[in-house]
Amino acid sequence: MDEPELLGVGKTALGVAQIRAHESQRPDQLFDDPYAAAFVAAAPTAFPDTFPGRAEAAADPLAGVGAAFAVSAVLRTRFFDDYLRQASAAGCGQVVLLAAGLDTRAYRLPWPADTRLFELDLPAVLDFKERVLHHAAAVAGCERIVLPVDLRDDWSAAARTAGLDPSQPTAWLCEGLLIYLSADEADHLLTTVSDLSASRSQLAFEHSSTLHPAVMAHARSMPAMKPYTCLWKGGLGHDAPDWLIRHGWSVSIHDCAAFAAAHDRAAPGAAAGAFLTATRHNCP
Ligand SMILES: C[S@@+](CC[C@H](N)C(=O)[O-])C[C@H]1O[C@@H](n2cnc3c(N)ncnc32)[C@H](O)[C@@H]1O
Repeated sequence: MDEPELLGVGKTALGVAQIRAHESQRPDQLFDDPYAAAFVAAAPTAFPDTFPGRAEAAADPLAGVGAAFAVSAVLRTRFFDDYLRQASAAGCGQVVLLAAGLDTRAYRLPWPADTRLFELDLPAVLDFKERVLHHAAAVAGCERIVLPVDLRDDWSAAARTAGLDPSQPTAWLCEGLLIYLSADEADHLLTTVSDLSASRSQLAFEHSSTLHPAVMAHARSMPAMKPYTCLWKGGLGHDAPDWLIRHGWSVSIHDCAAFAAAHDRAAPGAAAGAFLTATRHNCP
């Protein structure tokens, strides 16, 4: 089943799926994504053989950067899996995956009965995802609502129309997105999230990049990485905790290297930065 090519920022979702497919084959896997390989198989020529998880990678100059991306994506996947399990157990019956990409948590995490999970991303990405999941006869373990939107626009009304209830606590996940937004776009997105968040809602994203700054700089210098690095706009950067505190959230920062070490995935030069989780405590 060959699919039309995913382009631009949408293609980054396929890169993450490839990393998750590879991780899912490891005996010491930090998660099992049973559908990641189907996404990769549906777009077999999307990436060169140098991509992490492909046998020839070790000999290629891109390998070091690719391996660092892979470690970072694996760690963040497991961290945010744990975050969503905890937020769900704490009473967030609504889950919103902002820039869900090819995330299959609706299918692979154990959800309490009555959980409603919303997936927001660009139309082309969600079209591709739906076709592959349909072909794989995948069945979600919760009520799953797919909402094609550009998250730089005003999507609040569309989310309410789709059934999001702002009076109920929501677990928000913004994984792998903010780097593709400017500070103004990230501000706009998080303002919308805050406006839709009842008390006890939770939010998580990567705080500072979980890639080492040297790896980021190396990636930027590589012509082969240009199609991806030219999309990086920085998001809120290090201002995110202060921004959230000013908007009624309490914030916790979780060191990525410590998380890597706790999971026996310490990789010098790869795991850096931190994850951020926040709880809404003060709705105006
Ligand atoms: C690196 S992928 C991460 C996907 C997913 N969160 C994951 O970790 O598997 C980035 C995602 O952000 C989405 N994205 C980027 N800019 C967007 C925008 N303005 N509106 C909606 N989605 C966007 C892309 O389509 C892509 O799916």
